[in-house]
Amino acid sequence: MKEQLEKIYSDAASDIEKAVTVKDLEDIKFKYLGRKGEFNEIKKKLKDLSDEDKRIIGSRANEITKQLESAISEKFQIFYEQELNKKLEKERIDITLPGQYIPRGSVHPLTSTTNEIVAIFQNLGFSVAPNEESPEVETEYFNFDMLNVPKDHPARDMQDTFYTNIAKNVVLRSQTSGAQVHVMENQKPPIRIIAPGRVYRNENINSRKNNFFHQIEGLYVDKNITFGDLKGVLNEFIRLYFGAVRPTRFRSSFFPFTEPSAEVDVQCIMCEGKGCRTCSGTGWLEILGAGMVDPNVLRGVGIDPDVYSGFAFGMGIERLAMLKYAIDDIRLFFNNDLRFLEQFKK
Ligand code: PHE
Repeated sequence: MKEQLEKIYSDAASDIEKAVTVKDLEDIKFKYLGRKGEFNEIKKKLKDLSDEDKRIIGSRANEITKQLESAISEKFQIFYEQELNKKLEKERIDITLPGQYIPRGSVHPLTSTTNEIVAIFQNLGFSVAPNEESPEVETEYFNFDMLNVPKDHPARDMQDTFYTNIAKNVVLRSQTSGAQVHVMENQKPPIRIIAPGRVYRNENINSRKNNFFHQIEGLYVDKNITFGDLKGVLNEFIRLYFGAVRPTRFRSSFFPFTEPSAEVDVQCIMCEGKGCRTCSGTGWLEILGAGMVDPNVLRGVGIDPDVYSGFAFGMGIERLAMLKYAIDDIRLFFNNDLRFLEQFKK
């Protein structure tokens, strides 16, 4: 029986020696040390031996069991670490690799120009009218009727308006001036607002004209507002926007909703008044329309023109951006060409 024991021991030891995977070790453990393994078979027979042999063989069996267990677990530990290392190596992440490149966008030049103009007027005490008082889809009532442009009056054709098929009187606004009416219907003077937004006109598209563009409307209504206030505010705006005092010219003009009316020119940025292609040789560039709010407009919204007066202006944002950044084609704003847009990255 002793030889049998030693034989199993040396078989097991050589099996352990030959094992190459965790699985092999598990099989060996099962074969020799399991409940129905070879050692247990022998231990079962111990009871038939003499007390003396029981002690000697029993203790040897225990010794061998312990040795096999520790040999298996030692090797198990080695295999386990090897397999773990293999797995880690396979799943290894190189944290020094550069991250994924996410291209950074930039603010559209019309947006940044609008923000800049809005900030200037906010510093002068104007606030931005709420969006719902400046909708792009308007009724003729706001775009024309209340702005002193009667039905069938030729002034309605001053701007080629897009009519919609929503209803006969619903238009894409041709100017932001409708915001004046919305605001005055909702607020009592003193009123000091600006309203930036998109407008639409049925124009033939070329380098100077697009069938939609952007304006900023301004309105100031209070007691004792004069044309002098209008000139002061606009000259200050021009100084702040162009970064220097620039010669300006208030040219007498006509708008149905202002009286008197003016168009305001700044001296040409490109040629400083000498005359060039940009200013068609005149030395001046028109940037906005303005005037004193017509008494008929005030009356229409229930403001007494004998008590209150006001001025209004509307400027083209594209025009102002083109002048500041020497852009010679309005279509560049709308082509989404990154080569153009990326030049405005801050
Ligand atoms: N709405 C006019 C235009 O689009 C500009 C303007 C606004 C003129 C306010 C006077 C007062 O041409």
